[in-house]
Amino acid sequence: MRAITIRTPGGPDVLELTDVPAPTPTPEQLLVRVRATALNRADTLQRRGLYPPPPGESDLLGLELAGEVEAVGSATPGFRVGDRVFGLVGGGGYAELAVIDYRMAMPIPSGWSFSEAAAVPEVFFTAQETLFTLGQLAAGETVIIHAGASGVGTAGIQMARHIGARVFATAGSPEKVERITALGAEVGINYNTEDFAERVRELTNRAGVELVQDFIGAAYWQRNLRCLKVGGRLVLVGLMGGTKIEADLGLILSRRLHIIGSVMRSQSLESKIAITERFRSRWLPLLAQGHLRPIIDTSFPLAEAAVAHQYMEDNRNVGKILLAVA
Ligand SMILES: NC(=O)c1ccc[n+]([C@@H]2O[C@H](COP(=O)([O-])OP(=O)(O)OC[C@H]3O[C@@H](n4cnc5c(N)ncnc54)[C@H](OP(=O)(O)O)[C@@H]3O)[C@@H](O)[C@H]2O)c1
Repeated sequence: MRAITIRTPGGPDVLELTDVPAPTPTPEQLLVRVRATALNRADTLQRRGLYPPPPGESDLLGLELAGEVEAVGSATPGFRVGDRVFGLVGGGGYAELAVIDYRMAMPIPSGWSFSEAAAVPEVFFTAQETLFTLGQLAAGETVIIHAGASGVGTAGIQMARHIGARVFATAGSPEKVERITALGAEVGINYNTEDFAERVRELTNRAGVELVQDFIGAAYWQRNLRCLKVGGRLVLVGLMGGTKIEADLGLILSRRLHIIGSVMRSQSLESKIAITERFRSRWLPLLAQGHLRPIIDTSFPLAEAAVAHQYMEDNRNVGKILLAVA
């Protein structure tokens, strides 16, 4: 089969379409003919040699896929050859064929394209786990969603709004601010022209918010703490702005703050099956009925994975960047 491989760790141009052996499914895995996959920031880190795949996972890029079942395993009840499925994988999505545990494979809702389906798993699962399972966001509470125009941000804004939470979201340009407010953020803050912590304190009469979902890390640490009210929660989901901090522990103590970290890829298969189940029961019906939608920025052919990576690293997207697999 053809797949995108990494010639040597480095910039986007190390990605190339080559011939590699097709994966061999275990009895509990489906072999899927991939029709669409999507980019995630983790792929760009893996390409640079900074994020190796967890043991036992494919060393190919690609954390999500949509396609047709090419072959079922001896222990994959409920699936037939030809079924249209989508889901999260530990790696291997940037390829013509990939394997997925049958308990992580979901039927594609009728009327959806493969692209729409491939745009969903990673960002909706991540937003679900960090805003709700860990962040415990409830109706009437206020959440700050950083990188609001990112794939994860565009999913999270819609989900938080849907349950009746107030959303303040940040982004790096007026165009992105316009997009995230159209998606449901009550306030969009351009972090390049405003101090988001000052703005949040003004908006909340200096009380702060219940939850911050952060992808930036070190660069936002101190300001995130200043934005939280007593008992507030900070869920750390990404570290795009650095990993090393000098912490004001006094603020954590006096405001009784909760600091929670989360990463999905390295979790056990059992945990990921549970995450898939939570998504299927609570959020997939809302997506299938059109109450929420995957936000797709651009789709590139698989062979142009390098161009797609450069596009992501230039911070040009609002929502998901897809790869179409012929
Ligand atoms: N923990 C997990 O399990 C998990 C799972 C999935 C994703 N993630 C993380 O979630 C984040 C979003 O992922 P994604 O794939 O949705 O990203 P994405 O679509 O590529 O969007 C990322 C956006 O973040 C903003 N950004 C980048 N660097 C920044 C910086 N230094 N300071 C402020 N903003 C910055 C840019 O938007 P602006 O133009 O607005 O600056 C950029 O477009 C990443 O950090 C990723 O690693 C974590």
